[in-house]
Amino acid sequence: MFANLKYVSLGILVFQTTSLVLTMRYSRTLKEEGPRYLSSTAVVVAELLKIMACILLVYKDSKCSLRALNRVLHDEILNKPMETLKLAIPSGIYTLQNNLLYVALSNLDAATYQVTYQLKILTTALFSVSMLSKKLGVYQWLSLVILMTGVAFVQWPSDSQLDSKELSAGSQFVGLMAVLTACFSSGFAGVYFEKILKETKQSVWIRNIQLGFFGSIFGLMGVYIYDGELVSKNGFFQGYNRLTWIVVVLQALGGLVIAAVIKYADNILKGFATSLSIILSTLISYFWLQDFVPTSLKE
Ligand code: C5P
Repeated sequence: MFANLKYVSLGILVFQTTSLVLTMRYSRTLKEEGPRYLSSTAVVVAELLKIMACILLVYKDSKCSLRALNRVLHDEILNKPMETLKLAIPSGIYTLQNNLLYVALSNLDAATYQVTYQLKILTTALFSVSMLSKKLGVYQWLSLVILMTGVAFVQWPSDSQLDSKELSAGSQFVGLMAVLTACFSSGFAGVYFEKILKETKQSVWIRNIQLGFFGSIFGLMGVYIYDGELVSKNGFFQGYNRLTWIVVVLQALGGLVIAAVIKYADNILKGFATSLSIILSTLISYFWLQDFVPTSLKE
């Protein structure tokens, strides 16, 4: 049963990562009438959806009794403020990371972003070794090196890219910096969350509600700081369309799947599962979105 959950959760993760990256990229580049949706508000909406889904899961675990649900939430969240507070750290980092992700996908094509972001496998391994005292074998380190080489090859500018360098260098640089910062935050936050999940008793869904609670607060601060004026002018949900809702639902689903993967497998396996989605998003990006060329060439 445990082994099954491990592989099922890893499989869903491959599907979720691929569809999120492609829809997010598509939604950020789509030219439409009126204002584009604000990514800062999308981050908050995804957190709220995640909390609602986790409350439903705790409700199901409490044998669908509202009273039992209420007691669990009370006992495990409100009455344990110090335990709850522990989640403020990964939550703050994830909020920053979720915003960086939009910056990256507004400036890089989906495949380049995906491949570069796989550097997080290396940062995750380093944090796992230092914070969880995990031991990695020769083959595991070797696969990390092979992955890094792959990343370097994809980043190598092609002739057509060299021609367009002046046009796209600025935004490519911004995009790359955003991804690289996200690699470190991803490694640290993931391993910290794994440490909390595996070293304390509370259920993964309770931990996710705590994470989402802080995530929503930090996310709202982000909305106020970056888009406060726009929100007061055009509203919180400006520019939302069906595609935006698909993006936020996929992002919320990602939170659930990732939590399950971290519990039943670990962060290093999670990294390898998501790197499988590189192949998928590269193929789809090329054949379907015709996007695996520098965006500046088209714009
Ligand atoms: O790229 P990485 O795997 O680090 O992304 C993790 C993503 O999963 C982040 O968007 C984070 O907000 C989300 N997450 C979550 N709930 C968890 C763990 C991660 O929503 N328990």
